Amino acid sequence: MYNIEVPDDELYKKLDTPFNKDFVKISLKNDPTKFCVMPQSFVDLDLERIKNMEIFEDDVWVVTYPKCGTTWTQEMVWMIGHNLDYKTSLEVLLDDRYPFLELQGIVPSYPKNMFDECVNMPRPRYIKSHLPAFLLPDQLWTVKPKIVYTARNPKDTAVSYFHHYHNMNGYQGTIGDFIKTFVNDVMMYAPMNNHVIDFWNIRSQPNILFLFYEDMKRNLKQEVRKVMKFLDKDYSQDEIDKLCSHLSFDSIKSNKMINKENDIKHLMSIAGREYNPEKFTFIRKGKVGGYKQELTRESIEMLDKYIKKAEFDIEYHF
Ligand code: A3P
Repeated sequence: MYNIEVPDDELYKKLDTPFNKDFVKISLKNDPTKFCVMPQSFVDLDLERIKNMEIFEDDVWVVTYPKCGTTWTQEMVWMIGHNLDYKTSLEVLLDDRYPFLELQGIVPSYPKNMFDECVNMPRPRYIKSHLPAFLLPDQLWTVKPKIVYTARNPKDTAVSYFHHYHNMNGYQGTIGDFIKTFVNDVMMYAPMNNHVIDFWNIRSQPNILFLFYEDMKRNLKQEVRKVMKFLDKDYSQDEIDKLCSHLSFDSIKSNKMINKENDIKHLMSIAGREYNPEKFTFIRKGKVGGYKQELTRESIEMLDKYIKKAEFDIEYHF
């Protein structure tokens, strides 16, 4: 079903970090335009078992390309789906309430078997993944549980990904080099364009809710209402106001159940670095258009070309 190619390209090597290396290009044998870059450990551990995973119609998935506001979306969806259960939300890590399906495949040293965590969750299961559509479980497309997909403009996404890679994975290259790997589709989970297109094309199916990070920034209440409708929930104006405060940038940033401090410490220790919240926090800037302060004109032009190359009718906000 798949071709697993070990790419002979220097750009891939630039992405090697203390815990992600040996990147391969996984493609569909019958359609090589469907491909994704992942570490070999993902192929060894997760590729087949995820493809064959049993899906239930009451699952609620959040799927995104990395750094598009996954964590924010997960908390919003989880709260709305759980009758605004602040007590549990403030006591249980989001990563335990909404586990990350392929985390062990990309970080083999991760202390938990995340696939088993997802499989064995009490129903309804809430599951996060960054995998592109063609690597997700086959039964997702026949059983059709609810899937929330959040997209973000690729320029802010790439910058956010750089900070993640630099601070959490120990990437030593420059931001300019990172953008080059991004637009050449050799980054982990690349290509971003295809990732978004595949969900954009099915966005009108009743079990898919397609959101934009920028819309969440501009009018969170409106996006909360979309999720409520999608999950068949009804809350009062006061409840929606309270939820939006809970989901605000400052609130999420200081919420230890959500802000991933422990994960960051774990990853940084593998990379031989010390965690310093003054320098980096997972909930970092939370801005639309922040790339303008961080990228050179050359990098912005590369990303503009990359976005144009996708040739689909999505309108990103920058
Ligand atoms: P920045 O790095 O641009 O700040 P993910 O969860 O997919 O890894 O996405 C992380 C990005 O979402 C980070 O972007 C983070 O700051 C942003 N984010 C998380 N919660 C947010 C919120 N409540 N408001 C705005 N941005 C948020």
